[in-house]
Amino acid sequence: MIFAGMVAFTFAAGAVYAHADPLLPQAQRLIETGPVGGPVSRAWMTEDQISQLAQRTHAAGRCGGFMDVTDQPDLGLGAPSIQTLTSLLAGYPTPSHQNVINPLLKELSSDGLANQVRALSDFNNRYYKSQTGVDAAHWIQSEFKRLSAGRADITVELFGHERFSQPSVIARIAGRGPHAAERVILGAHEDSINWSSGWPTEDDRAPGADDDASGVATLLETFRVLAQSGYQPDRTIEFIAYAGEERGLLGSQDIAADYQQRKIPVVASLQMDMTAFPGKKPVLNLITDYVDRDLTVFVEKIIDIYARVKWGESKCGYACSDHASWTKAGYPSAFPFESAFEQENENIHSVHDTADLLDFNFGLHFAKISLGFAVELGSI
Ligand code: BES
Ligand code: ZN
Repeated sequence: MIFAGMVAFTFAAGAVYAHADPLLPQAQRLIETGPVGGPVSRAWMTEDQISQLAQRTHAAGRCGGFMDVTDQPDLGLGAPSIQTLTSLLAGYPTPSHQNVINPLLKELSSDGLANQVRALSDFNNRYYKSQTGVDAAHWIQSEFKRLSAGRADITVELFGHERFSQPSVIARIAGRGPHAAERVILGAHEDSINWSSGWPTEDDRAPGADDDASGVATLLETFRVLAQSGYQPDRTIEFIAYAGEERGLLGSQDIAADYQQRKIPVVASLQMDMTAFPGKKPVLNLITDYVDRDLTVFVEKIIDIYARVKWGESKCGYACSDHASWTKAGYPSAFPFESAFEQENENIHSVHDTADLLDFNFGLHFAKISLGFAVELGSI
């Protein structure tokens, strides 16, 4: 893709990348685009040019699909060996914890999902640098705390980002015993955006009910049931609400880079992004690009056993959500989605992405998947 007034650098996948130049004004961001497996393109762009990029691709009937790699230009280079990580588990196990999981599935509530989505979409927006975006993150933090009151083994913290105000939120159920250092991650992005005018501002209304209050609500509902059941995992389970996804996977890149640098063994990461707007053909789909194939097959087994619904497979065609940050950092990641990519909810990124258009009974499938995933991988 070539755009007027910007210089594009093209690199073969795995080659040496351009780095953030500390002398450049902060307004210039390093933007990466490109198909799976490269070649990727990198270009320095102003905020306005990034908006222009998104606007043009949206006008062409598809999403923006860019990764803002300014702060984490080397994420793909310091990758831990996948071999080492999967050998921690010796491959993903055959699901075997039905006795624990089945009773918990009955506790999951579609009303719970609906209430959380409504509360999240009541913020004017959850934009990554607006005050209401910060307020929404603090609200998510307080919900995690409220739902886990009395559990000393659960901590809830903010993960701050250097260049924008919205923090990510991490709720952690500590593992017990020899596998406690290993982590199982469930994530969703907390931010929302309005691309309708092509130039998002801090004041634009962006309810982001499906994209991605639905994913955050899935995390909160799964967390509620686990925390209140007294379940104690062997591996540490983390629920992460990522900041700044809509501006190029910013929050998840920072977190994946931090874990990579601290050599934290993440055995699996599950992305929940858009879970409650069934396509015309209401079949949920596993996204198959920028993910780990073995983990995706494992999630398909979880669906068969615990959600008991039909599923298909589909591609985004670009790094469309936070699963791509984990994949890029060398960690296994999977992404179950509400429909085939082509049947995507056309209301997203506008004032029309509201809770009344969603189907929370359909959304419940994703809470079942999350709960099955957390307990199967959290337990030895
Ligand atoms: N939830 C969307 C991604 C998505 C949209 C997946 C439709 C499947 C179908 C996500 O929040 C998003 O909008 N992503 C951006 C890319 C991001 C890296 C800026 C997009 O798709 O334009
Ligand atoms: Zn999204």
